[in-house]
Amino acid sequence: MANLLVRKALRSIGLLESARTLKRRFRPADRVFAPCTPHLLIAVNKGLRWCSERGLAEGSDYLEFGVYRGFTFWYTQALAADMGIRDLRFFGFDSFFGLPRIEGPDTGGEFQEGAYTCARRDVEMFLTTYGVDWDKTHLVEGWYDETLTRATRQRYQLRRCSLCVIDCDLYSSARLVLEFLEPLVGEACVILFDDWTSFENQEMRGEQKAFTEFLHVNPKFTAEPFIEFGGHGKGFIVRRSV
Ligand SMILES: C[S@@+](CC[C@H](N)C(=O)[O-])C[C@H]1O[C@@H](n2cnc3c(N)ncnc32)[C@H](O)[C@@H]1O
Repeated sequence: MANLLVRKALRSIGLLESARTLKRRFRPADRVFAPCTPHLLIAVNKGLRWCSERGLAEGSDYLEFGVYRGFTFWYTQALAADMGIRDLRFFGFDSFFGLPRIEGPDTGGEFQEGAYTCARRDVEMFLTTYGVDWDKTHLVEGWYDETLTRATRQRYQLRRCSLCVIDCDLYSSARLVLEFLEPLVGEACVILFDDWTSFENQEMRGEQKAFTEFLHVNPKFTAEPFIEFGGHGKGFIVRRSV
């Protein structure tokens, strides 16, 4: 109740957004370098092998939407190096302020604004400590409605995406990710959704809703189930037919 009154007062004087930003900025740093959902690593392993065996990994880009502490992002690069893949670039997209405000179709679920906050400097520190190659690694910071644009695709000269991890929990985020990804899907792309069964596994919520809508609007793509992992994730091979 007290919280509600404070929020109301801040909104009435136009300071609610600034207060939210400050709160996120001073959240204690999350200093443990560990996977958020360990089973995602199994899916990444299978996905990268699938791409590599078909010659799809070389000359392509790995895109991860929802980096958090960067463990999966780091792991994918370490795995690629171990597999002898030389020309794969790594792009991680995140606010580094955690989840955005929960609105519209994402309300009433298990996710909260600001969850999974890890500051960019901490992510960079983890990645440097564990030896990423910064020449082929890029962190794209900001809210997706501002960063997932044609200008970003052009700035980084993004190439065909062979493996994509969508780990940003919400319908509103996954929808923007898929729109951004659309021109980057080549002949085939492995897309892993880490939060497929969130929102009580309802088809018309969360990442499932975003993917269903994406396939509906883009009939040029077909999606073949590839892997289910950890009871929460699902991956597909998405093929472009024309
Ligand atoms: C579950 S965490 C990612 C975990 C990470 N892939 C791993 O394996 O450790 C979800 C991330 O998505 C990011 N995120 C979700 N929606 C976003 C949006 N609209 N804009 C920017 N970042 C977003 C959050 O900041 C958070 O770091």
